[in-house]
Amino acid sequence: MTATASSAPALRDNRGTNELPPHLDENLLTPRFYTTEFEKAAKTDLGKAREEFEAIFKEMETDYNLTHFDRKASLDRLQDLSPSDKAVYESYLVRSVVSEFSGFLLFKEISNRFKKAGRKDLGQFFQFLARDEARHAGFLGRALKAEGIDVDLPNIGRKRAATFFPLSWVLYSLYLSEKIGYWRYILINRHLQANPDKACAPLFDFFEPWCQDENRHGDCINLMMRCWPGMTNGLRGKLLSRFFLWTVFLTHTLTVCERGDFYELLGIDPVLFDEEVIIQTNNTTRNAFPWVYNFDDGKFLEMRMEILEAFRNWRASSGLSKPLALGKFISLILRQFALPMEKTNAVRYG
Ligand SMILES: [Fe+2]
Ligand SMILES: [Fe+2]
Repeated sequence: MTATASSAPALRDNRGTNELPPHLDENLLTPRFYTTEFEKAAKTDLGKAREEFEAIFKEMETDYNLTHFDRKASLDRLQDLSPSDKAVYESYLVRSVVSEFSGFLLFKEISNRFKKAGRKDLGQFFQFLARDEARHAGFLGRALKAEGIDVDLPNIGRKRAATFFPLSWVLYSLYLSEKIGYWRYILINRHLQANPDKACAPLFDFFEPWCQDENRHGDCINLMMRCWPGMTNGLRGKLLSRFFLWTVFLTHTLTVCERGDFYELLGIDPVLFDEEVIIQTNNTTRNAFPWVYNFDDGKFLEMRMEILEAFRNWRASSGLSKPLALGKFISLILRQFALPMEKTNAVRYG
């Protein structure tokens, strides 16, 4: 599973230019790839979770979106975009294809490891998740192709560098990435249904059933967490909940607000979008994590603006002021990390 970099480009612009434009930088194409305690995972005891497992398994097997991602979708509407708006749209596609494909690689690996360990049920379960992510990545790849850009997904897969994380970390972060993905897609979808003139690409017509895939994936990961009650117990559960919610929300704020151009293209205010995604994801997470942030005093959400400003100051600073600006940024994010949380009633088996 070590990285073997291929010299062939994974991304090709077929529109007559020899060089890739800056928004299609090859360096963006490095999927994050994790390995974990696969042997421990293979010991997952479905025991009391069996009934819930069978129900979700059946749902995944039904494959609601088998015919949803239409290969012949018309791409006409893009013609109206200016070159700079097109660049914004294309870099969104590239970032998305990489994250969907990273999901595929991880789920496929987990599925293979389960099958090797003789856990057919869980192997097939994760095969369903890999199937969906491959479909999402393939659909985004087709949207890029329609723009004259070829992305070689298997080649991206070979460039992966693997990082090891304990099983608990992988499950906490996977749960959040699926649920935050769900909220991101559905909020964009709701906004575009209310403002159809802003739906500048046919891709957005596919978001609603797409986000239901991500929602189900989150439920699948939640089921795995419920089978490992030690992960959500006591101080460990509280620390893991705090750490992963904070990391995911902070990353979301910085990326959405720093790449606000994509949201502005759709007529969405990035700051409000970020806020709504965080509120909804935190609320949904009550079903899985033992603790979530308590937003009642408004501080967590308010602090995002200060953090963003400190981040921008740090990036813009140079010389002696750079470490000072970094210190300010770090002290702010640590204060946000420590803000109040509240206990949930998430179900646990065992
Ligand atoms: Fe996906
Ligand atoms: Fe997913």
